[in-house]
Amino acid sequence: MKVTYPIGVFDSGLGGLNVLKEMRLMLPNEDFVYLADNLNCPYGTKTETEILRLVGKVIDFFKRLSVKVIVLACNTTSAYLDLIRLRTEIPIIGVIVPTVKAALKASKKKNLAVLATNATVESGVYQKLLYSKIRRKSKKLHFIRCSEFVEAIEAGEVGTDYSRHLVYEKLSSLKECNLDTVVLACTHFDLYQDEIQIVFPEAKLITSGVATAKTLKKLLKKLNLKNQNQKGEVKLLMTGELESFRNRADWILNRQSFEKINLE
Ligand code: DGL
Repeated sequence: MKVTYPIGVFDSGLGGLNVLKEMRLMLPNEDFVYLADNLNCPYGTKTETEILRLVGKVIDFFKRLSVKVIVLACNTTSAYLDLIRLRTEIPIIGVIVPTVKAALKASKKKNLAVLATNATVESGVYQKLLYSKIRRKSKKLHFIRCSEFVEAIEAGEVGTDYSRHLVYEKLSSLKECNLDTVVLACTHFDLYQDEIQIVFPEAKLITSGVATAKTLKKLLKKLNLKNQNQKGEVKLLMTGELESFRNRADWILNRQSFEKINLE
C-alpha cells in the first residue's frame, strides 16, 4: 500500500459525487477514482444477493487498480459493509456510521425521519444504529423507502415541477410529525435538498458528505497514508451511459474527463 495510490470511491450513479466533492475539499492532495455503476443503477430496488454480487465486482476492480482505501459513497452498499470487508484487505469505509453520528449530533428533539432506498430501509441498519442511541419507547422514528427518487434523479428530474411534486406527494404525510431532522440516507438525495426542505421548512437536513470526508481523513492519518505532496486529481469512471452522466456530473463537479469501463 503506497501513500501515492488513489482512493477508490463508489456509487451506483450520481449520488456519491456529493460525497466526493466534500472529500476533495477536505483532502486536496489526494487522487480519487470515482466509479459509478450506472449500468446497474438503481441498486436500492435489488435483493441483498444481487447487491453483494454487483459490489463484489466493484471491489475486485478497485483491487486490480491498487487503491489505498475504498469509500462506499452509497448507503445501499454501506448497509453490507461488514460482508463487503471480507472480500479484501483494502480498508473500506461507508457512509452510514458517519451519517448516523452527524444526525444524532444535529438533532435536539430526536424527532427523526430517515429517507433511504428500499434496500437500505429493509437492511435495518439505520434502525439498529439509531435505536441503540435513542430509547425506542420514548421516540418513534420514521424510515421511508424512497427508491423512486433515485430513478427520477438519474433521469435528470432535479429542480423541476415533476421532482417537487414527487417529493411532496411522498413525504407530505409526515408534515404533522414535527420532525426536527431529516436524514438523507441515500447519497442521491443530496440533489433533492431543495425539494425536501419545501416539505419540511423547519427541519435540519443531514447529508453524508462532510461526515464521511472527516472519517476518511482520520483513517488516512491513522494508517499513515495521507498524501501531502501534490495537487490531487479525479478520474471518473462509469459502466453505463456516458453522455447523460457527463451532463449531470457537471452540476456537481464540473469535471471534463470521463471513461467508460466494463466490470465483467
Ligand atoms: N446513492 C445510493 C445510496 O446512497 C444508491 C442508490 C441506488 O442505486 O438505489 O443508497
